[in-house]
Amino acid sequence: MTNRGDIFETGEIFRDRKLVRVGHVPDLERVVGRDDEIDAIGSALAPAVRGGPPETTIVYGKTGTGKSLVTRCVCREATRRAENNDVMFAHAYIDCSDYGTETQVSRQMARDLHSTVKNSVDEQSIPRKGIGAADYRDIVWEMIDDANVDAFLVILDEIDKLDGDELLRSISRAQESGKADAFIGAICISNKIEYRERLSERVDSSLQDNELVFDPYDARQLEAILTRRRDAFAEGVLQDEVIPKTAALSAREHGDARKAIDMLYEAGRLAEMERAEHVTEAHVDAALEKAEINRFQKLVSGQPPHVKHILRALALLTEQTDRQQFRTAEVYDMYTNITDEVDTSPLSYDRVQRLLKEQAFLGVTESEHTGGGHKEGSYRVHRLLRSPEIVTKGLDRQ
Ligand SMILES: Nc1ncnc2c1ncn2[C@@H]1O[C@H](COP(=O)(O)OP(=O)(O)OP(=O)(O)O)[C@@H](O)[C@H]1O
Ligand SMILES: [Mg+2]
Repeated sequence: MTNRGDIFETGEIFRDRKLVRVGHVPDLERVVGRDDEIDAIGSALAPAVRGGPPETTIVYGKTGTGKSLVTRCVCREATRRAENNDVMFAHAYIDCSDYGTETQVSRQMARDLHSTVKNSVDEQSIPRKGIGAADYRDIVWEMIDDANVDAFLVILDEIDKLDGDELLRSISRAQESGKADAFIGAICISNKIEYRERLSERVDSSLQDNELVFDPYDARQLEAILTRRRDAFAEGVLQDEVIPKTAALSAREHGDARKAIDMLYEAGRLAEMERAEHVTEAHVDAALEKAEINRFQKLVSGQPPHVKHILRALALLTEQTDRQQFRTAEVYDMYTNITDEVDTSPLSYDRVQRLLKEQAFLGVTESEHTGGGHKEGSYRVHRLLRSPEIVTKGLDRQ
């Protein structure tokens, strides 16, 4: 045996890593900074907890603002409370991005309901295929009747991925049409604010009574969210500035709790890989840089090699001068240096100019017309929207 040591040794950074992993759904008590939203969803479900009709609600907000989490947690709580009241409250949760078509979503609604109300309909009678969306819905209404459900709530997460509006219509009509003998409501969730208008065209006004918008988290809220998860780390490992710094950077960049938690986890992993004793601010900086490089890498991964040479030229210019903006001719010169170095023939000046415009359109660079000096007339200047280190490292990894 060589003395390579224990290859599964991980160091002493984490105590309970799942707390900082994506997908962990904390209890309602660990949800912080969303009191108003919790109250709003609570009051939409309040009638159902007493055997009345749940109010259909539409939840909007940017990604990572707690929409799915708050909805699921409040729903779990509502189920508990209904039980105490001797009310049969059932719900089905469907992430439409996993399914997409009306038929698949309706089938999933039947399956999820079945797993919560164990009743006479056995799972075999929910066929995998061969029947349509309306048939699956009929199975749902049947299960509701058989199980004596008083109130049924359907959570349609990522509803903008659903390909039609039949399901929503039938949910709003099931009860009045006498198909189901229970109060039925829906919570529709979307991170596309643009979807709002489309939704209002698609469904009748009965579905638009309640609309709830989740705002991005501010630094204080993110700090509270991260602090509740500090048990993920072993005692004394996290330096004091780490959480406030992660929160501040995340609030400035996006206000997304998922990304903030991820960044904290990444900082911990970097400390672990270095076999450091503490997670420090430097690890947070490194985690941020890593995330930015990843994002940049994804953004340019499908681009042809010459676009990458052009971006590298801009990065080199930015590093070598104290300016941010460069004229097309300067970029072109540097670009031809690079193509010489890698031994390819350069594209024409016009072509490069067009590719630069395209990159500005894609949000990789920014271009503008500038009035030059007296005799120069106007010309176009270009600049990178990220630091040259990020761009260079992202390009190196292609
Ligand atoms: N208020 C909060 N308290 C504690 N943890 C939170 C809170 N908000 C979000 N999180 C954490 O961030 C993760 C992402 O939140 P959630 O899935 O609810 O976002 P979302 O708004 O549904 O985003 P998307 O639009 O991308 O689906 C959650 O799984 C949870 O771990
Ligand atoms: Mg979500």
